[in-house]
Amino acid sequence: SCSEDKKWLGTPIEDLRRIPECSHALPHLKTTHNHTVTIRTDLLREGEMPFPYPTKFKDTWDDVSVKMPCSEKNLFPMDIEVMQVIILIILVNSFSVGFQDSILRYNVAHAKKWDFTALNLLCTEVSCWSKSRCHLPIPLLKSKNHHSLTMSQEQIACLLANAFFCTFPRRNSRKSEYGNYPEINFYRLFEGSSSRKIEKLKTLLCYFRRVTQTRPIGLVTFTRQTLNSPPNWERSQRPFTRLHITCEGNIEDNGYGMLQVDFANRMVGGGVTGHGLVQEEIRFVINPELIISRLFTEALESNECLIITGSEQYSTYTGYAETYKWKDSFKDQRPRDDWQRKCTEIVAIDAVKYRHFLEQFAPDKMKRELNKAYCGFHRHNVSNKHLPAIATGNWGCGAFGGDTRLKALIQLMAAAEAERDVAYFTFGDSLLMKDVHEMHTFLTERRVTVGHLYSLLIQYFHAVCKNSRTAKPDYSLYSFIYDKASSADTLDSAKNSGMS
Ligand code: AR6
Repeated sequence: SCSEDKKWLGTPIEDLRRIPECSHALPHLKTTHNHTVTIRTDLLREGEMPFPYPTKFKDTWDDVSVKMPCSEKNLFPMDIEVMQVIILIILVNSFSVGFQDSILRYNVAHAKKWDFTALNLLCTEVSCWSKSRCHLPIPLLKSKNHHSLTMSQEQIACLLANAFFCTFPRRNSRKSEYGNYPEINFYRLFEGSSSRKIEKLKTLLCYFRRVTQTRPIGLVTFTRQTLNSPPNWERSQRPFTRLHITCEGNIEDNGYGMLQVDFANRMVGGGVTGHGLVQEEIRFVINPELIISRLFTEALESNECLIITGSEQYSTYTGYAETYKWKDSFKDQRPRDDWQRKCTEIVAIDAVKYRHFLEQFAPDKMKRELNKAYCGFHRHNVSNKHLPAIATGNWGCGAFGGDTRLKALIQLMAAAEAERDVAYFTFGDSLLMKDVHEMHTFLTERRVTVGHLYSLLIQYFHAVCKNSRTAKPDYSLYSFIYDKASSADTLDSAKNSGMS
């Protein structure tokens, strides 16, 4: 619990950098070979509605773009899970008069006798809506390709409405050409009677109500980033950067203006359109513009991440997982940057899922996680004084079963290599707060480098994990580091004086 007197340790959070204060001036927004912009950049004005680019809808049906519901080539525009959409319509209606959980329990057998003409017309209307706003083919962000896509929030809203009505062609089965992409059509959200689904629907309906009441005027950028030359961890001479660690608060509220980590699935958004409702899914439903990344982002590879800049928060919530509840509509007061994006930067990095505790100490696994985190934290050609701190926490340590103490070190090493400070939210765990703070103090006071700590992690694997007879070794990682780094002190200082 986090009830003790000390709620935070390390560097005061006020000392860490945030955007927009630390940002550098942005270049003029324009389309380049690796940046697609779907609005008229020449007409972009603060506080004004962006215009779609080009002026008319360009119908494309190929392997490099999203197949649109409104395309002439879409031969089965009504290829939808009609029954489930019916449930949706009832949900929408009952929502406005006060939500009734019992609605999901009605007898679906009757549905077969119903006539769906009106619903079909509605779906057609929704898909035509995208034709009037999304004129440029949307590029697929495929693996190994570094590419950015900037769209208006209104275009995203219209694409999300299509996702809601399940109108994206070829996206209702995982076996199709989109097998390596996340699910985008919302059909799974409408099935079952769990309170998770109901609360997620309330959260999403709040978003749709808001964007239909007031058209959103900003832009959002999605960047797929690939790490081609990973750091040499063994040789890294980097010192550790500053750490603020707290058992109170969370990434989205207290880490505003920082680079906020999404504890992602390789299929970004994870179970957001299905049953999932932990850190990533919660973030995706309160900032629903994130969900549209599922339309075009191919599964992340081990050296890739997705950076989303400018998404807006529309809802507040209470609880977590089973106890999650939509709370209220939220007015996001974040300022906008020169590209009219909310100053909110989120990075999706997916950890490895571990079934057995010891697996994660294997050198190849540790290196994979280091490179993944570094890919998320590193920004090419941006000086570190313009980079905000990283807001993170128990990445990979909930649903994915990782060890918080190892993952905290891995993230600190990646942050050090990227020369960025860290705000770490332990999510109520005050013991973890103390342990990581103590370790970080030890490492910085003794000027242990990233490379040195890396070699200690490898040693721990060989000396302790490889031959462990128990599922969890008695000799803990942190005890091992304290012992080895302390005894190596004399050796190290001898080496250093010899070199100077
Ligand atoms: N701020 C700070 N810490 C948090 C927050 C928050 N808002 N929410 C949760 N935590 P988890 P994973 C802490 O399980 O293990 C999804 O389905 C809390 O201690 O979401 O990387 C994805 O799509 C929690 O136990 O991340 C993936 O499929 C811990 O962070 C999968 O889960 C880990 O949160 C990823 O699982």
